[in-house]
Amino acid sequence: MTTETALQKINQLTDRLNFLNFQYYNQSISEISDFDFDQLLKELEILESQFPQFKRDDSPSQRVGGSIAKNFETVIHRFPMLSLGNTYSEDEIKDFDERVKKALPNEPIAYTCEQKFDGVAISITYKNGILSRAVTRGDGQKGDDVTANVKTIKKIPLQIFAENVPKEFEVRGEIYLSLSEFEKLNKEKAEMGEALMANPRNTASGTLKMQDSGMVAKRNLDCYVYSFLCEENIFPTHISALESLKNWGFPVSQTYQKCESIEEIFSYIQNWSSKRHDLPLFTDGVVIKVNDFKQQNELGMTAKSPRWAIAYKYPSEKVFTLLKSVSYQVGRTGAITPVANLEPVQLGGTTVKRASLHNANEIERLDLRLNDYVKVEKGGEIIPKISGVDLERRASGAEKIGFISHCPECGTLLVRKEGEAQHYCSNEKDCPPQIKGRLEHFIHRKAMNIDSLGEGKIEVLFENGLVKKPSDLYILSYEKLIGLEKSILDIESGTEKKVSFREKTVNNLLEAIEKSKENPFKNVLFALGIRFVGATVAEKLAHYFTNIDALIQADEATLLQVPDIGERIVNSLKEYFSQAENLQMIEDLKAAGLKLYSDNEPIISESQKLEGLSFVVSGVFEKFSREEITAKIIANGGRILSGVSAKLNYLLAGQNMGPAKMEKAEKLGVKLLSEEELLKMLE
Ligand code: IVH
Repeated sequence: MTTETALQKINQLTDRLNFLNFQYYNQSISEISDFDFDQLLKELEILESQFPQFKRDDSPSQRVGGSIAKNFETVIHRFPMLSLGNTYSEDEIKDFDERVKKALPNEPIAYTCEQKFDGVAISITYKNGILSRAVTRGDGQKGDDVTANVKTIKKIPLQIFAENVPKEFEVRGEIYLSLSEFEKLNKEKAEMGEALMANPRNTASGTLKMQDSGMVAKRNLDCYVYSFLCEENIFPTHISALESLKNWGFPVSQTYQKCESIEEIFSYIQNWSSKRHDLPLFTDGVVIKVNDFKQQNELGMTAKSPRWAIAYKYPSEKVFTLLKSVSYQVGRTGAITPVANLEPVQLGGTTVKRASLHNANEIERLDLRLNDYVKVEKGGEIIPKISGVDLERRASGAEKIGFISHCPECGTLLVRKEGEAQHYCSNEKDCPPQIKGRLEHFIHRKAMNIDSLGEGKIEVLFENGLVKKPSDLYILSYEKLIGLEKSILDIESGTEKKVSFREKTVNNLLEAIEKSKENPFKNVLFALGIRFVGATVAEKLAHYFTNIDALIQADEATLLQVPDIGERIVNSLKEYFSQAENLQMIEDLKAAGLKLYSDNEPIISESQKLEGLSFVVSGVFEKFSREEITAKIIANGGRILSGVSAKLNYLLAGQNMGPAKMEKAEKLGVKLLSEEELLKMLE
């Protein structure tokens, strides 16, 4: 293919795919099947990899992410991102209306009422009809450039298909995680015994700041746009702007309404106080805005917020109920979680029977007594929490709830590490829920995926002394399993279930265990159940260190170079690999034939041009990912070191490199090398 045809074809495919996306998300039209769409996308991706110079800023191939950012660039907002004054009462809304009318006497005033979406504010700039930059609110004056992450959100157009669009404009809106996506994520976390996310807002905010945009793409974030900003005044009113934004392909919630009197505002608030629970995301109030842009301008703003808008917040839903008892759960990692058992009560559409008390500090803070009437709230927190006690209804001499001192399952004295709120049972090796929890984690769908071991079978194997650690699964045999049996009480339904190992069950099970050996390294690494090493972290580590031994031997500085890996994870890895039993189990798993290495292409030698030279790689590069450039150095005979020292020959410096490293290199006289200079050395 000639360069010219490639350029033409890339342009054609980019436009076509962006247009199909616009039709699909904004007009519910599917002109072609998903399969055909994916074929076109693949064709574009192949061309882009052959002709990277023609890849466009609005290429739909960026929807799946792929870029890694160690730091986000700070960007100053062209127009500051203000906040809104909050009100909680009708009187305060009346005051607002009076202030507006006083500033604009003898003018008819119309308002727009909108939902106050509970997500993360974003500002997105378009130039020549193409998404050019997305920035978080930050402190209102400056925020973080999260463009690559925002481009993965399918409902946000990368390219605008409309006439008369200003050359440059900005939209603002809220990025959110829908309630259904949030529940899906937490269900997966619960299945794997991981800590749950507190609420969709924090999850959305954490996701937006992830360094790997590929991970962001998997979270399915969503967005609503609610503001338009431009140097030219092209719209007379806020509602006309919202209508055009919708037509241009932006996601605009259709929950707004024009209100011409204070009564209409009150009835909007009233109307949505329950209807908002049917929306796909959590909303916690109503934003009331003066509709006319000229009037908005005249009203202006105070230092922090505009005088033309105000937010009414719904009171958070709460209800009182009886605290019957507190029980203590032991997790896979030995963490003890106190749980309040409550008299069942209705709250925000669900029955609440239990609420997590998190840790001893929380019980202390609430000063809980047995049989207290406790206040249960839902607010932005989807998981109900206890926020207070009705002291007037407390019986005199009510028994204070003290934290347990010993593990409820194995009797071991509990410990509390310095700086941590959680109590732990340290009897990792023999505490039954910890052992079973680790085994259940190991067989989980996202780990070794041995689902024929679910539903009580692990329990039977454990109680018969056959399996205590994951590697024991790989020495099971037909003879050991056949005939095992146990009745298990299903707590939810109150019925008894019989688990029995007959011929077919045993054969299926052994087959599934054998098949699990084919799982890639990242699954095995995740299956080990190292604290803080979830599926995502395991994937990163497996990608960076191509085998378990390299990971075990890696020093702290090397580990910290892996995207999204911080000190907490590093400490946990070090702790795990410092234990002889864990190392032994890894050896046993290796011997059983599990993949404790990646199937990644081995590095093939290209030359010896860098022989005897050492490098530290830091920052983000233009032509290569960090892994690729590291592989290139090794393929040409160079050595990679983990930290800057006087022995180091070159610091290969990409964009956004940490200033500390740079300073140290300069001080020690280590040469800085750019990507280009390295490539010259290899010519
Ligand atoms: S308009 C001057 N409209 O609330 C601020 N904001 O407290 C103009 N928010 O940072 C913002 N839903 O993140 C506006 N329909 C809506 C909103 C909304 C949620 C958030 C936004 C803003 C914060 C202000």
